[in-house]
Amino acid sequence: MSSATQSIVIRGAQIVNPDAVFLADVRIVNGIIEAVGENLQGDLVLDGTGCYISSGFVDLHTHLREPGKEEAETIESGSRAAALGGYTAVVAMPNTDPAQDNVATVLFVRERGIEAGLCEVVPSGCITVGRLGRELVPYDSLSRVGVTLFTDDGNGVQDAHVMQRALTAAARLGVTLAQHCEVSALTEGAVMHDGACCSSMGVPGWPSEAEEQMVRRDIALVRLTGAKMHFLHLSTAGSVQLVRDAKAEGLPVTAEVTPHHLSLLDEMLLGFDPIFKVNPPLRTAEDIAELKRGLADGTIDAVATDHAPHAGHTKEQPLDTAPPGMLGLETALGVVNTALTLTAQQIAQVMSWAPARIASLPQQGRPIAVGEPANISVWNTTDVWTVSRHDLASRSNNTPYHGMELRGRVRHTIYNGQVVVQEGKALK
Ligand code: DOR
Repeated sequence: MSSATQSIVIRGAQIVNPDAVFLADVRIVNGIIEAVGENLQGDLVLDGTGCYISSGFVDLHTHLREPGKEEAETIESGSRAAALGGYTAVVAMPNTDPAQDNVATVLFVRERGIEAGLCEVVPSGCITVGRLGRELVPYDSLSRVGVTLFTDDGNGVQDAHVMQRALTAAARLGVTLAQHCEVSALTEGAVMHDGACCSSMGVPGWPSEAEEQMVRRDIALVRLTGAKMHFLHLSTAGSVQLVRDAKAEGLPVTAEVTPHHLSLLDEMLLGFDPIFKVNPPLRTAEDIAELKRGLADGTIDAVATDHAPHAGHTKEQPLDTAPPGMLGLETALGVVNTALTLTAQQIAQVMSWAPARIASLPQQGRPIAVGEPANISVWNTTDVWTVSRHDLASRSNNTPYHGMELRGRVRHTIYNGQVVVQEGKALK
């Protein structure tokens, strides 16, 4: 029997759907869920005991580094890290070299993702040419080849008029702009959150206001243009309140938070370890509490990793010169489940259903039901494991969680009907 016609059964897990959580076996044939029921038989049987089955996780914010920085990550190594983290789709951030501001680069990224075959690689497009904040990218041609999310991530679009024009193009095409909220005039030379720790360390601080000013401005521009706006990696209590108010007003805004902004504090930088340097910076306990509240009340729609690999020799520099960013894909479920008390449905909501909708991915975030595409993750909230930077599939090892104990782990990932992760091991 060829692998295309082989049937796969996941046995003994609880299915997590928006309307119900229930125990049942799932059988997959030819990339489709063919049966959901009791005592199903198959050519390959995967043990789901003690686990949940949901649609695969979808990461709205992954830096795959290819083309341009393959020493840090490739589309293949990043896709493998994603699959191990239970992801069946990742949105590839555009700060590659060349940047994803043109059709050829976008198609290259998508093709390399298909070749890797470990998850759906969804290229984002830039908002402006070269992410320089001046000239608009060719929105019509990028939208024609299927780009639905545009961002200059790594940079915020500083000029309000450029942003207004980009939003007008986005509204016309029905696509979404995702903003990295940072007023760069307020973050010049900054290495960490502008608070008590930063003052005691004598390093330049990054004020919350640098993020909130841009969130505030962009909400006003959404009101003006009617375009859909997604706020990347929110990190401050004030940002959460601004988005909450915008949603209450009925504006088409969505937002994400990273696992690290939900779990790590600015004080972790007291030892000057660049592993904790990230943009936006780690903040305070009050910010974390509000980010958690925002996730619980639906102000924040999704958890997104901002998986940002950096090769050892670049990251291991003094705090002021080390690049910002940390790995996220392989630890996301464990961090989220350890830092927050969420039900299985809430986890699936913020890690699969909502991000699939925000990125407009028809094959992702679907219910576990007959006839649906087999993009599936099997995971639990009970396994306790210790993160080791030596065990990661990413080409880089800049995880801030090395040596930490997490609860909750991915057991199997099925992408496009193929088992890509079995018993926590990547199959290719
Ligand atoms: O910490 C970060 N690293 N934040 C970003 O916005 C960009 C990212 C990167 O590309 O390394």
